[in-house]
Amino acid sequence: MNEITIHAPATVANMVCGFDVLGLCLTEPYDIMKVRLIDQRQVIIHTTDGFPLPMNPALNTAGAPLLEMLAALNQDLGFEVFITKQIKPGSGIGSSAASAAGAVVAANELLGNIFSKEELVRFAMFGEKVASGVKHADNIAPCIYGGVTLIRSIFPLDIIPISSPPLFVTVLHPQIEVRTSDAREILRKEVLLKDAIRQWGNIAGLVAGLMMGDYDLIGRSLEDVIIEPVRSILIPGFDVIKSECKKAGAIGGGISGSGPSIFMLSRDEITAHAMASVMKSVYDQIRVSYHIYVTTVNTQGVSIQHRA
Ligand code: HSE
Repeated sequence: MNEITIHAPATVANMVCGFDVLGLCLTEPYDIMKVRLIDQRQVIIHTTDGFPLPMNPALNTAGAPLLEMLAALNQDLGFEVFITKQIKPGSGIGSSAASAAGAVVAANELLGNIFSKEELVRFAMFGEKVASGVKHADNIAPCIYGGVTLIRSIFPLDIIPISSPPLFVTVLHPQIEVRTSDAREILRKEVLLKDAIRQWGNIAGLVAGLMMGDYDLIGRSLEDVIIEPVRSILIPGFDVIKSECKKAGAIGGGISGSGPSIFMLSRDEITAHAMASVMKSVYDQIRVSYHIYVTTVNTQGVSIQHRA
């Protein structure tokens, strides 16, 4: 086998209260990537989607992790990567992480699975460094592990998969770009103790609620008193969508990753579609174009489609 095609799914980082420590893998959308083993020590990037992303592998979110992998291997081989992005860069649903995670999972398969998932996360974080200037794993880990993941620490890496009850996810993606680096830059560097107490109560409540399948506890815990008040001003209609979706039966939700996407969790598919209607009616008045996904939690993460 010297060629593999994979799907690299979108992810929801933070899950409202867990800034940089919680993430959720989505069934849709996903990028399609083909990775080929070559006998020169280099990484070659091709794109077929028209997004103006860097072709220099050291500056590309799929390329940088593969260069790190090659450095760890020290063998005469390399990778040629063909990327078809369906997750728009700057969407807040883990576009850069999908490229990074997809590349390392595919490469590892071609090498006979010599690296652990944790090592793959470590390589893939170099893609996030290229994309946003900071290594964070709250999109990468759920993309590679599937489901919900807690990143207790990145130095040293400590990833804990968290079980969850069935969840439907409605994602509104306003067609405006928010760069993660900008959305991080505007955050205050210090927090008040009273806010920190409320936030870590919510994170613990969310993890407990997910593991116990307690939808009410999940809903009560989906509150962010630190990041959301600052970032939500970048997203047209955010407050209205949040309150209308809650009224219409959402478990809860908020900003996906660094935005501009907004996600809402529901217990069933009918409610998830009702969330899409609420989002649509708000955005049709705002007149910003948008895309809505009604999807589920993807428990598999990056999936292999074809080997040749
Ligand atoms: N935790 C990161 C942030 C995720 O919110 O900046 C970026 O997708």
